[in-house]
Amino acid sequence: MRIALIGAGYVGLTSGACFAQLGHSVTCVDIDQSRISALKAGRLPIFEPGLEDIVTRKTRQHRLRFGSDIEAGCRDADAIFLAVGTPSRPDGAIDLTFIEAAARQIARPMRRDVVAVIKSTVVPGTARRLREVIAEARGGLDFSVASNPEFLREGNAVADFLSPDRIVVGADDPRAAKVLREIYAPLLAKGAPGLFTNTTNAEMIKYAANAFLALKVGFINEVADLCEQIGGDVMAVAEGIGLDHRIGRAFLSPGPGFGGSCFPKDTRAFAEIGRRHGAPQHLTETLIDRNEDRKNAIAQQVLREIGSDRKAPHVAVLGVAFKANTDDARESAALTIIPQLIEAGCIVHAHDPKARPAVLGAAVIWHETSYEAAAGADIVLILTEWDEYRDLDLKQLARLMAGRTIIDCRNLLDFGQATQHGFRHLAIGRAAPPATQPGHRSRARGARVGDRRAAASPI
Ligand code: NAD
Ligand code: UGA
Repeated sequence: MRIALIGAGYVGLTSGACFAQLGHSVTCVDIDQSRISALKAGRLPIFEPGLEDIVTRKTRQHRLRFGSDIEAGCRDADAIFLAVGTPSRPDGAIDLTFIEAAARQIARPMRRDVVAVIKSTVVPGTARRLREVIAEARGGLDFSVASNPEFLREGNAVADFLSPDRIVVGADDPRAAKVLREIYAPLLAKGAPGLFTNTTNAEMIKYAANAFLALKVGFINEVADLCEQIGGDVMAVAEGIGLDHRIGRAFLSPGPGFGGSCFPKDTRAFAEIGRRHGAPQHLTETLIDRNEDRKNAIAQQVLREIGSDRKAPHVAVLGVAFKANTDDARESAALTIIPQLIEAGCIVHAHDPKARPAVLGAAVIWHETSYEAAAGADIVLILTEWDEYRDLDLKQLARLMAGRTIIDCRNLLDFGQATQHGFRHLAIGRAAPPATQPGHRSRARGARVGDRRAAASPI
């Protein structure tokens, strides 16, 4: 099939490359000229494991092309996928400006029988709305609009796309369903479950799925808070409840609050849809507030640990991306926490293997390695679960740091080892060791709970 992808971001580029990998002929179009120039020169504008290899191979085989001319990109297409951004508006509703603009732009070159497919995350009713937008622009044209929400995770996008848990297609007419079935035939043949429904259900599935996953994260974060108070260990509790196949272990890792370009935006939109239609999503409303509270509470915890005596304390933040294996820092915990630390007078030294968001500007001192960031630090704050932080050499860290406190918001470090090296190791969801003086070079005293990994291992 000949496929056009409008928008060459995380979703558009991954989908385009993977459709080419499935044997289709694909053109990715983006209005961002610099993005297209980079892609044409063989440079990926985003970091996504495994993607560069597919893009390079498929471009060489002429199965994948890039351009900034929508008309040229769409002229021969059997299906045109819209993968442009759908950002939040201040009231939480999503801004459909980009997708409506893209729909108008594709209307002109669309040929007869084409299927316009919405891959962006959009509120229920958008497919029907875009059918009107295109019909207004191209009266008399016979075409279809379908919804095909995307469930890939950043950092795992290629694998998620090529081995999906399910493929959801919303089609309001048989032609749309037939074309989508053909496009996904290689994956359906390999056993990927296909759910074919109408466009409204498909749009709703996407929001309900993200809200539910975010609720799991929010739930375990609250369980973690309780574990800290009762001397429990959230990792053991997550393991214990996750072994129930009705619950499952996935998305039960406590952290500094969920971020990214999706969960925060999509939960806000889901809540707004509920309010607008008189069916409030109370759980999601509460979740949104609690998630923000959590990020603020971590900033306060850092300041408490430092104490008020210390002037211009040096805080080393390890991890700015909203999760590991991505260079994306949109709505990451770091973006909420770091400005509060700076506001309170801290000097923030930061490291991230991939993300260096411009929004933090010159306020942060960036370092090439975690050790450089930690040198002279009063406190280390780990926010992202990069593997290299899991493997931190604690002896070296102890030698380099001025203080002895590590706030480990991803439970990456081994508690026993950190304590052995003299650290006050504050992990999420386990009782805090008794506070030492927020001074320097002080030895942390033992904690009340045992080794986390031992406690968590099912026998
Ligand atoms: P992104 O910001 O990375 O990419 C969007 C791209 O669209 C940009 O490069 C932009 O220049 C381009 N664009 C905007 N208007 C255009 C137009 N008229 N013509 C051509 N190009 C245009 O966004 P993303 O993260 O890929 O997300 C896209 C959509 O997919 C959103 O609705 C998002 O919620 C959804 N989604 C994202 C993910 C994810 O992991 N990022 C996963 C599933 C769904
Ligand atoms: C999420 C969904 O997982 C994808 O299925 C969906 O396609 C995507 O949103 C979207 O709609 O765009 P993504 O945002 O890439 O994917 O990242 P996740 O892996 O879901 O993580 C989201 C946030 O939750 C991160 O901040 C992460 O650190 C946090 N999280 C996740 C936890 O704190 N604990 C967990 O157990 C899991």
